[in-house]
Amino acid sequence: MVDEAGARRRLDPAHWDFFAGGAGDERTLGANVEAFGRRRIVPRVLRGTGERDLRTGLLGCELTMPVLIAPTAFHRLAHPDGEVATARAAAAAGTVLVVSMAATQPVGEIATTGALLWFQLYPQPDREFTTTVVRRAEAAGCRALVVTVDSPVFGRRERDLRNGFLDLPSGLACENMRDADGRIRDIVMDEGLSWDSIAWLRSRTHLPIVLKGVLHPADARLAVEHGVDALIVSNHGGRQLDGAIASLDALPAVVEAVGGRLPVLLDGGVRRGTDVLVALALGATAVLVGRPVIWGLTTGGADGVRSVLEGLRTELDRALALAGAARPTELGADLVAVPRG
Ligand SMILES: Cc1cc2nc3c(=O)[nH]c(=O)nc-3n(C[C@H](O)[C@H](O)[C@H](O)COP(=O)(O)O)c2cc1C
Repeated sequence: MVDEAGARRRLDPAHWDFFAGGAGDERTLGANVEAFGRRRIVPRVLRGTGERDLRTGLLGCELTMPVLIAPTAFHRLAHPDGEVATARAAAAAGTVLVVSMAATQPVGEIATTGALLWFQLYPQPDREFTTTVVRRAEAAGCRALVVTVDSPVFGRRERDLRNGFLDLPSGLACENMRDADGRIRDIVMDEGLSWDSIAWLRSRTHLPIVLKGVLHPADARLAVEHGVDALIVSNHGGRQLDGAIASLDALPAVVEAVGGRLPVLLDGGVRRGTDVLVALALGATAVLVGRPVIWGLTTGGADGVRSVLEGLRTELDRALALAGAARPTELGADLVAVPRG
């Protein structure tokens, strides 16, 4: 379904490593996929489900399925049409693209596709500049801010260090990092990022705030107390803290801590419709996919991304039918087992 090998053939090896790689020994990168491999579905039968309905409402957005596009950097490195192509596919599929702060096209241009957009933010130590970026996302019509909270410093990506891949090739830039004078700034990770930063952001915008990168149930409880609007259980696709728990393994405790007070989303290792089903059954409202979208973009531009999304939709629909559910909200944790041995 996803032509990962085809993407690898097309990409410059250093760019392939940038997209595919993770931090350190890439244990967490592998664990995300393995965690799905350990689960088995315990289907229900004779439920007469008829046609399935995958529609999902999230923060005021109506999605045709519970699968969103995760924020990933540098789409023009994968395909000359860049984030605009990814957004076209999101619009055609009826889902959300979370635009990375490290996107290589301006969010206003990406918005011309008519796609539902959320904007991912690394709050910058310069608050005034952060506000400039937030206003740009608001002006483009983004429907939520996704604050990435697992990155007080950059993860150590050893493939990139070996390849000397530290900068974008000339002609490409993080277009949403322009300051009021039109100068593009470097993305700085804020080592001082704290709950105060979230409270500050809450005071600066009316957009829903989503925290991306929560793994510990205590942080999930704090997120509820701080009035955020949704959580994404994520370890950044294994690119930040190597050795961190797989997203799927972290999900049940976070769902329990939140107790239905917020939508809980998950990303990391989702490769098949059956993976989506397992995450939903364990309490996620929706999932996001990162690398599969990049492979689709690399091999086929907007059409390639579209086919990855439609593949996931078809697989999820079939998996629901085979597990005896008509819609995502009918799934429960009783449908998922971890066999011993
Ligand atoms: C190449 C690449 C770039 C990424 N860039 C960002 C980013 O700019 N901001 C962010 O919050 N997450 C970023 N992520 C993390 C993704 O949003 C997401 O958490 C992860 O890719 C999900 O795992 P998956 O690739 O296994 O689906 C990036 C991931 C990849 C693979």
